[in-house]
Amino acid sequence: MFRISFKIYVIALSALLGCESARADEARDALIVQTILKLESFDYEKSSSKVKDSVSRYLQKNVGSEEYYTLVEKFLIEGQLSNLQRLCSQKESNSRAANLLFKIGGKSVIASTLKIVDGGRDNFIKSIGSVNDPEAVSVLQDLLSGDNYKEMRVVIGAMSNSPAGQERLLDLCAAKKIPSQLKQDVSILLSGSVDPVVRSRAAKLIPLPASLGGGSLPPVNELVALRGDSKKGEIVYLRSCFTCHKVGEKGIDFGPALSEIGDKLAREAMYVSIMSPNQAISFGYEGFTVKTKTGNTLIGYVVSDGDNELAMKVPGGAVISTDKSKVESRVPLAVSLMPSGLVSTMTKDELVNLVEYLMTLKKKSK
Ligand code: HEC
Repeated sequence: MFRISFKIYVIALSALLGCESARADEARDALIVQTILKLESFDYEKSSSKVKDSVSRYLQKNVGSEEYYTLVEKFLIEGQLSNLQRLCSQKESNSRAANLLFKIGGKSVIASTLKIVDGGRDNFIKSIGSVNDPEAVSVLQDLLSGDNYKEMRVVIGAMSNSPAGQERLLDLCAAKKIPSQLKQDVSILLSGSVDPVVRSRAAKLIPLPASLGGGSLPPVNELVALRGDSKKGEIVYLRSCFTCHKVGEKGIDFGPALSEIGDKLAREAMYVSIMSPNQAISFGYEGFTVKTKTGNTLIGYVVSDGDNELAMKVPGGAVISTDKSKVESRVPLAVSLMPSGLVSTMTKDELVNLVEYLMTLKKKSK
């Protein structure tokens, strides 16, 4: 009781005396912000420095909130570029922050951020992917050279998220400018477009992987609409996936356990994971090739990297430790440890059944 009335007393008093207490400032800033948001026409650029100070203090305290975006959208406040950059790298596909960053800072700010952004770089790229504008797409396109295939896959995934990006990917395919290692990713991503024109252009330019028995698979968005037989799907799992994935007690522990994969992935993402494993490689499962001085080659992922020993998990599930002094080289794989040709070992129906089965794998409710 005493505390509350004391607070009110302090606020009232400081307001009365015009005292610069922090709380009074905060209350006044909020009041100013609410007022200018209500005004039909308010020229922020021409407003007094007092108003601007209040607004920027308010924004700083509320970065990323609904009010924050409303204010920045309304007045396109230039001083917010660095906060917007940060918002784009903190969250994957932050479309709101990315669109504002582009609107206020344009292509050049995006390009210069890409030169320096390190932490949250993938998030930043994915956020920019939601800006449906050829100029923003061009900045992403500039990242499609060199040999960092891991990043280029992120870029392609980002580009496939906007109509302008999809169009550019199609043009690049037509001009044969997509590196061959990335073609299948592009074809699978575009086959999932909601735009039928994009899907049919993609199907002509870069056919999807073939299924067993010939003929290419239907695009992901059509596969998603189909339902299969999960019992039959389990048989496909036991044939093609068991050697690397556990489901409950069954299977070999190499890739991530699939026991609850139906909770984690939506049907569409499930198809993409199987048809195009390189698209998104699970954290901690990035592959490496390690060569030893005794002439051995190991392919797998690192499970522990100590001072003296390097332990790798290899297909089959064994963990192999190597004395670090015997390691000659350690090179990251450009692709997933999960093979990308698996769909060509099954028929379309088998694939649909398999996904039906995987969708049933959920956490048991106790
Ligand atoms: C040679 C081993 C291997 C085989 C065979 C294999 N996978 Fe994988 N799989 C992996 C590895 C390693 C990963 C983690 C790396 C990655 O995400 O690409 C993975 C990742 C996955 C993921 C993503 C998991 C997650 O938590 O996001 C799914 C889903 C998946 N596999 C399904 C399958 C299915 C279905 C099959 C059978 C058609 C299969 N895998 C066959 C090795 C394999």
